[in-house]
Amino acid sequence: MATIGTDISQAKQILENGQLVAIPTETVYGLAANAFDITAVARIFEAKNRPTFDPLIVHTHSLEKVNEFVEEIHPNLLKLAQTFWPGPLTLLLPKKNNIPDLVTSGLDRVGVRIPKHSLTLELLKQLSFPLAAPSANPFGYISPTNAKHVNDQLGSKIDYILDGGSCQVGLESTIVGEEQGEIIIYRLGGLAIEAIEKIVGTVSVQLNQSSNPKAPGQLKSHYAPKKPIFIGNINELQYQYADKKLGIITFGDGHISKSNMIIKNLSPSKNYQEAAINLFSFLRELDASSVDIILCELLPEESLGLAINDRLRRAAS
Ligand code: TXA
Ligand code: MG
Repeated sequence: MATIGTDISQAKQILENGQLVAIPTETVYGLAANAFDITAVARIFEAKNRPTFDPLIVHTHSLEKVNEFVEEIHPNLLKLAQTFWPGPLTLLLPKKNNIPDLVTSGLDRVGVRIPKHSLTLELLKQLSFPLAAPSANPFGYISPTNAKHVNDQLGSKIDYILDGGSCQVGLESTIVGEEQGEIIIYRLGGLAIEAIEKIVGTVSVQLNQSSNPKAPGQLKSHYAPKKPIFIGNINELQYQYADKKLGIITFGDGHISKSNMIIKNLSPSKNYQEAAINLFSFLRELDASSVDIILCELLPEESLGLAINDRLRRAAS
């Protein structure tokens, strides 16, 4: 198992040696390595069992640093960066040659993010290189939102987990880029579309659902628990699966619990942020519990409800 702690200098030393460290961010925990070191980056793919066609996001601490490895930033994307960084926003930007092709899976753009977490920002400031980091989970499984989640699944494959507590957003970053002057959302995430549109006007959404994604590794089936998961009207589903032990994920008004079920309410008061924080933990808890299947209902299609529904659909796919 990995060492879990808050020692930035130890994390720094391991990263400088080309090894892996799990880092806390406000979205989910990342599995980090020196983005300029191909051998170190290759270790990420190996530890996660991740196909190399799925590119990695590069994390740093300032716009000045971003300019060291990207060619230029479209004015509208710059506005987004200035408004929302540090925060749950990843920008796809034209890369310079110092970013290895392995990081971007051969694409011309690199995903860049300044995360909002004091420990990780301090670590990034002390390093001379940016950190490539995907979510710190085995490929295709639910993203980790605390240090224990990381240790449970990847503890044997990494040296150190920097423990920054539970993630304050709980959903991966929203991925945004620009094509022919148009601002495009490639992955719904912890920054709501409504907030982005306030800054740059109407955007288009291009969620990739193929099995060989061109942009965000938005595989149709992803974020998936091992137990079967079904989406729909809970009352109907509950009746349909009456012979099973049920895990139920709801939002808003309470559901009456029966003996054959475990109910997890994402947010009794219908608060989207609270729901986002709870989503991945609840999926993990139910996956590790005695239930046979997981039933869930979709949230209203607005604000973070959009990203939460996206994750539920992929989990059920
Ligand atoms: O919130 C987050 O974004 C977290 C934290 C750790 O920063 N990271 C994360 O990474 O969710 P990952 O690898 O699990 O998901 C990142 C997605 C992938 O689906 C990948 O395909 C896409 O971003 N992506 C990364 N670089 C890209 C690029 N150059 N072009 C298109 N898509 C890219
Ligand atoms: Mg991921």
